[in-house]
Amino acid sequence: MPQLTITPAGWTLPIEPGQSLLEAALSAGVRLAKSCRNGTCRACLCPMTSGQVRYRVEWPGLSTEEREQGLVLPCVAEALGDVTLHAPSATQTL
Ligand code: FES
Repeated sequence: MPQLTITPAGWTLPIEPGQSLLEAALSAGVRLAKSCRNGTCRACLCPMTSGQVRYRVEWPGLSTEEREQGLVLPCVAEALGDVTLHAPSATQTL
């Protein structure tokens, strides 16, 4: 099962099949910035420092330049293997 690592906290958690990165974080008690959860508001935008994702929606609210810079929208991104996100504002709730 792929793993999601959240830096700088260093939390590592499993990503269940079909989960978005945001859903995987929430199931493990890690709160990331979010609002719409459908890829439009960009509240969850954050840098992916390693890994690859695909998007559930055809037009996630992310420019080509932002994708090239490694930015992702975790609410609609599904991991294609292990992923590391840099989310300094993440908090643990469990
Ligand atoms: S929560 Fe709105 S784009 Fe991710």
